[in-house]
Amino acid sequence: MSIHSSVCSAGVFRGSSTPSGDDCRLETPGSSVAATTVTAMTPAATKKRSQMNARTRKPYTVTAVRYPHPAVVETPWEYGPSVASAAVSDDAVQRWDDNAAFWDAQMGADGNSFFLTLTRPAVERLLGDVAGQRILEIACGNGLFARRLTALGADVVATDGAAGMIEHARAYPGADIDYRLVDAADPAQLAGLGQHAFDAVVCNMALMDMAEIDPLAAALPALLRQPGRFVFSITHPCFNTTGMRMTHELEYIKGERFERYGVVITQYATPAIEEGIAIDGQPHKQLYFDRPLHALLAPFFAAGLVLNGMEEPAFPPREQPGELRWEALPEIPPVMCCRLVPAARSHEA
Ligand SMILES: C[S@@+](CC[C@H](N)C(=O)[O-])C[C@H]1O[C@@H](n2cnc3c(N)ncnc32)[C@H](O)[C@@H]1O
Repeated sequence: MSIHSSVCSAGVFRGSSTPSGDDCRLETPGSSVAATTVTAMTPAATKKRSQMNARTRKPYTVTAVRYPHPAVVETPWEYGPSVASAAVSDDAVQRWDDNAAFWDAQMGADGNSFFLTLTRPAVERLLGDVAGQRILEIACGNGLFARRLTALGADVVATDGAAGMIEHARAYPGADIDYRLVDAADPAQLAGLGQHAFDAVVCNMALMDMAEIDPLAAALPALLRQPGRFVFSITHPCFNTTGMRMTHELEYIKGERFERYGVVITQYATPAIEEGIAIDGQPHKQLYFDRPLHALLAPFFAAGLVLNGMEEPAFPPREQPGELRWEALPEIPPVMCCRLVPAARSHEA
């Protein structure tokens, strides 16, 4: 007879990244899910938001959506699935701008364990040789991958929508990188980057932070020169979303004790916009735009791109899984990396 007993089921700080060194992206084990992802906004943050609303003159639409997850029904910054207006997009970027100094301090020059162990190796494999190539980076953050691309011999134009991020990126000495402030939700700004000017476009861990991905997808055929490729990494749309709970279970099978770490998914199918935290200690919550796979890829397919490469990196297994965190889940990839190419050359890979 088996005895199944859940010994820990904790809510998770939605991790796209872990802080440098050891971190804890989990609430105290035993805390309820309701307590994990929702806290009131600080008065300062609220003030900033309403100022921005006045500027854009677009009131937020608050819509109750889908499964009544505590994080969904309680947060005051909950948007419906199809209200990604310019105001929401501006809000998303503004929050990154507010978090820029913290983000830079956490990621540093070379990135954290998420980036170094998962994202960077997979994205580099999908990109292939970049030496001598002109690469455009979208949502470059503090420029860590732009610097890496430069070290690999690429000529890099690196962009981000948050002025603070660009400022921090420019402050790193050494690399000759053309940094530009570009909102990837703005077709005109994307078109201004050039016609068939890039061998590859790359976007690391940012599509889930973008209110609008259609403008970027639509711009890619004109940005890329043949043979072109678009490579992106993202928090895994199936496993690393707000609809996920990490679990640590204890089971006895024929008197033998087994502990298992895993995830429980309670939300996936409906695109959703929610507040979350990428790194524990982040001063301001960011907005996450959860899209199921079909919704994520549809704009790229509509733009004539096809998927011809994919990796789902997970942390390597370890003898003692220890704390309940992504590093304890070698079977569950927290990140997905994809390569899309113009349809005509999809067979080449
Ligand atoms: C999780 S950070 C990733 C940064 C960097 N790529 C990295 O891997 O460290 C997400 C980035 O997306 C940027 N971002 C969000 N929405 C954007 C938009 N509409 N246009 C350009 N950048 C955007 C943010 O400013 C932030 O730098």
